[in-house]
Amino acid sequence: MQPMEDEPQVQKRSPQYDVVIFGASGFTGKYVVQEALKFLNTPSSPLKSLALAGRNPTKLRETLKWAAHPQNPPPHIPILTADTTDPQSLRRLCTQTKLILNCVGPFRLYGEPVVAACAETGCDYLDICGEPEFMERMEAKYHEKAVETGSLVVSACGFDSVPAELGFMFNSRQWVAPAVPNRVEAYLSLESEKRIVGNLGTYESAVLGVANADKLLELRRSRPRRARPVIPGPPPPKGPTIEHQKNIGLHAVKLPSADSIVVRRTLATLTENPDGLPGLNESAEQIERRKAFWSTVKPAHFGVKIGTKSLLGIYRIIAVGIFIGILGKVAFGRWLLLKFPSFFSLGWFEKKGPTEDEVRSASFKMWFVGHGFGDINLISQGNSKPDMEIVTRVMGPEIGYLTTPIILLQCALIVLNQRDNLPKGGVYPPGIVFGPTDLQERLQQNGISFDVVSKNAISA
Ligand SMILES: NC(=O)c1ccc[n+]([C@@H]2O[C@H](COP(=O)([O-])OP(=O)(O)OC[C@H]3O[C@@H](n4cnc5c(N)ncnc54)[C@H](OP(=O)(O)O)[C@@H]3O)[C@@H](O)[C@H]2O)c1
Repeated sequence: MQPMEDEPQVQKRSPQYDVVIFGASGFTGKYVVQEALKFLNTPSSPLKSLALAGRNPTKLRETLKWAAHPQNPPPHIPILTADTTDPQSLRRLCTQTKLILNCVGPFRLYGEPVVAACAETGCDYLDICGEPEFMERMEAKYHEKAVETGSLVVSACGFDSVPAELGFMFNSRQWVAPAVPNRVEAYLSLESEKRIVGNLGTYESAVLGVANADKLLELRRSRPRRARPVIPGPPPPKGPTIEHQKNIGLHAVKLPSADSIVVRRTLATLTENPDGLPGLNESAEQIERRKAFWSTVKPAHFGVKIGTKSLLGIYRIIAVGIFIGILGKVAFGRWLLLKFPSFFSLGWFEKKGPTEDEVRSASFKMWFVGHGFGDINLISQGNSKPDMEIVTRVMGPEIGYLTTPIILLQCALIVLNQRDNLPKGGVYPPGIVFGPTDLQERLQQNGISFDVVSKNAISA
């Protein structure tokens, strides 16, 4: 049958490359290239061919040199030119590769044409986005198309939000029946022997997030309500603005990151699909494994806080939050924030980003404090106060430029060698796609640890 005249011509895919890193010359992109080279053509790695893409070939060649240092860049890594303002260049990329790793951000500004090209052509897509409105908008606009073409689109495959997703599941799976969790609060602590610094790209994404906060609410109002998981016990109390978590020695305040939203999306998808998402071509054994995995994940209320050892550190975080929260709402304020990032973030974000030394000396700990009931049956007998606590922890290297590339690459390797076990296509959060795979083990082998800290009865 001839295509209708006004139907877009979808180019046929004949992927030459396993992976294209798009935005490879960006601050995060170059660390992603460095991580990818560790797995390129090594024994048993499914990553046999890699290409770098972006709008500036000279910068991309320099990136490759930097990432390969002190070795020479491996031969046969093509440099491809593509720009988000040129949809044809993006469709061409999609026909050339099995999988795009998108590091071009802020995603609110540049992400949609890339997702659109992947959804249209059936190319798989992972990114390191931490912007909830972008993720939900992509799901609303491209999920159906992606299901149809077999394009697996997964955002937030970086520090945002895989440690939160897997860390939540890890905690929730420690509650063995008849015990059930009621809430899990994550406490993030960033540590460094030098300075903790982020690059402008992340700061800009956060500032734009504040400016467009009402767009996310508008989007949600325009869509059908998602299923809500049934969580045993009452909703958690609000608690103080600044909390002192004595157990882990941190003062903490709410962190308005993407994490809790992404975890909630995974729990909503799980509520709608209690056995998880069927894979493209799963074996009977794999189907059983997937179902068994999801039967051990229990829903709970989830929130994320950022913590510091000193109260002064918390006041500093609150001050930066107030600057971004107030100035981010008006155009002149945003101009000021982006013109003087170091001043308004009190030194946490810089135009040039952190030095390599600063990146190597930083690390994170994310504590998951779960509260719940030792026996679910007691809830119906009027026991409404949690009587059990399970504390777990995820730890790893610097969040933006070491942990994020490690996570993105391991997700990519899973897409390459376990594609049959993953959904045929669609736009999803990372937890529901990678939860039942070996992602956690892979992260552990690459320096991101998961451990159980304590299990205690607490006085109800
Ligand atoms: N999930 C996480 O935890 C995490 C961690 C780190 C970063 N991120 C996110 O990653 C994104 C990038 O951050 P970054 O600090 O790496 O920013 P960056 O250094 O500014 O890099 C942005 C990249 O996008 C490219 N780009 C911009 N406009 C483009 C266009 N029209 N067409 C093609 N490429 C274009 C730039 O190309 P040129 O090189 O040619 O300028 C550059 O490679 C941000 O959204 C940030 O929030 C997330």
